[in-house]
Amino acid sequence: MTTATADFTKRLDQTAEDTEALLAKLLSDTLLSDEIARPKRLMDAMRYSSLGGGKRLRPFLVVESSAVFGVPRDAALLAGAALECIHCYSLIHDDLPAMDNSDLRRGRPTLHKKTDDATAILAGDGLLTLAFDIVTRDEIHSDPTVRLLLTRALARASGIGGMVGGQILDLAGEGRFGDREPVDVARLQQMKTGALLRYGCIAGAILGQSTQQEYQALDDYGRALGEAFQIADDLLDVEGDAAALGKPAGADAALGKTTFVTQLGIDGAKQRVRDLLARADSALSIFGAKGDVLKAASRFVADRKS
Ligand code: IPE
Ligand code: IPE
Ligand code: MG
Ligand code: MG
Ligand code: MG
Repeated sequence: MTTATADFTKRLDQTAEDTEALLAKLLSDTLLSDEIARPKRLMDAMRYSSLGGGKRLRPFLVVESSAVFGVPRDAALLAGAALECIHCYSLIHDDLPAMDNSDLRRGRPTLHKKTDDATAILAGDGLLTLAFDIVTRDEIHSDPTVRLLLTRALARASGIGGMVGGQILDLAGEGRFGDREPVDVARLQQMKTGALLRYGCIAGAILGQSTQQEYQALDDYGRALGEAFQIADDLLDVEGDAAALGKPAGADAALGKTTFVTQLGIDGAKQRVRDLLARADSALSIFGAKGDVLKAASRFVADRKS
């Protein structure tokens, strides 16, 4: 293991541990002001799908993009936890029978299997809403304008022109709503997966009140990383196994999804990942050694087995 990789692994593990503790606190039974009650069934469901699993890559990107600008770690961890709430909600809904109909997530039964569809839908809604509660908190930044920019960017990454929009294009591409529509895979993936990962990267620039050039560099890096991440996910669906993945393999083919693997073949998709890694590296060049951990993150995204 090279020093950069060892350092990356240590930092990813530390962020995962800190995020876990923070999410456990945010999802505790303690009422916040203006909350009337925290119903046990809802809280248990939200905790089931947010705690005790996942790579926590998105919080890691927030923490490390923030570290480039010396943003306090606790503020970055809070913004990262908000992003992870959106991600966990997207997974709960993605696995529902009406969407990808999946039984296994993070090595455990999916939430709707463990409970029921209504509980899973509401747990997802609860996490989505909680994310916006967290990202607007005073502890994130003393300047309300910074909090506003961070919040708006999260809404744009999560909503119509981001993750939610990408998810409906994904289903349309499967032929779910009638005739199969021609699929612009790059756009679809940029939206359904890329937007949240990119947000993790620009969050640091927003919190750190970076220059426009620094923002652009993290934006470029985040776009390349996001695309590489989803292609790696699609390759793992073909080449990986459920035990390592903690979710079913072969699901995309069974559902008739169009991906870069179906369009370019396995070798073509792998070449595209390599090209994207080169793009991600070059975007980070303006940060010098401060960009090394993020460079290791893009290698991890491409080489991961789960
Ligand atoms: C899985 O994301 C869903 C996709 C966007 C492809 P991750 O692979 O980051 O899932 P966890 O959080 O580690 O379980
Ligand atoms: C998921 O894409 C994207 C979101 C959850 C927004 P996939 O459907 O490929 O993710 P997995 O493979 O089920 O994790
Ligand atoms: Mg899906
Ligand atoms: Mg899925
Ligand atoms: Mg997948």
